[in-house]
Amino acid sequence: MQFEGPSRTALGAARHRAAHQLLEFGRIFADPLALRILGEDSETVAREAEENPSGRMMRIFIAVRTRFAEDALAAAVERGVRQLVILGAGLDTYAYRGAMRQRLRVFEVDHPATQAWKRRRLTEASIPLPPCLTFAPIDFERETLAAGLDDAGFDPAQQTFFTWLGVVPYLTEEAVWSTLGFIAGLPGGAHVVFDYSDPPDSLTPEMRALHEKRAARVAELGEPWVNYFEPDQLRAKLMGLGFRTVEDLGPPQIAARYSPNRAVSIPEKGGHILRAATI
Ligand SMILES: C[S@@+](CC[C@H](N)C(=O)[O-])C[C@H]1O[C@@H](n2cnc3c(N)ncnc32)[C@H](O)[C@@H]1O
Repeated sequence: MQFEGPSRTALGAARHRAAHQLLEFGRIFADPLALRILGEDSETVAREAEENPSGRMMRIFIAVRTRFAEDALAAAVERGVRQLVILGAGLDTYAYRGAMRQRLRVFEVDHPATQAWKRRRLTEASIPLPPCLTFAPIDFERETLAAGLDDAGFDPAQQTFFTWLGVVPYLTEEAVWSTLGFIAGLPGGAHVVFDYSDPPDSLTPEMRALHEKRAARVAELGEPWVNYFEPDQLRAKLMGLGFRTVEDLGPPQIAARYSPNRAVSIPEKGGHILRAATI
């Protein structure tokens, strides 16, 4: 992906998180800074989300992936994790409000153009930078995560948790496997949470039509989806890299865990959220 300015999809994801606070009252994922970092008027955010009911599924998915990642992080901190790396952070607010942040060194990694924009947004919103935080501007397609994190003072001997939310679909397969290979090889041990989608040709006709509409929209923004995974092949490849546990929630598991009382039929295929660990 070539950026001329900050990532437009990072702004879109932040709008969904803010709308989730207003329309679902943060039921799945509560973020007291979601509106503040966005810097947009709450009535406009709520109205625009309500005017676009087909965006609900993506809004809930974004709330779920963030909640899943932060719950897994909290459990990992209890088991000894002391570093958090937020890959493709966008307007993620964990470093500024997260319950476990005092026990962590946090590295926010993002494309330089998006990270510079976020830093301006933080200043404009008067959100202070916590002492635990280090920014690491890295373009995953042009430089290795290893070199970028090394420059930022990352300690590979410490057990580390990586979140990588809403990024994998935009990257080449080569960039994805190079990053996962680095994470799997860390001597201190590592956990990673990322989301991905089943290949479009495996979706039901309804889901495929919705997928194509969204894919056209992100492509118009200059950030096309280029990467999909078949779950069994992905799991096998992760285990081959050295991950010892893989937890992968597809649409039915996500619905059962986060919306158990919602009586709608759930497709088998669609967006997944996955946690893998080497220890
Ligand atoms: C859809 S946004 C998700 C942002 C955030 N994780 C969230 O959930 O709100 C995609 C993020 O991936 C980052 N990204 C995409 N391609 C990248 C690249 N080649 N190098 C670094 N970051 C990249 C963008 O800058 C953006 O922050």
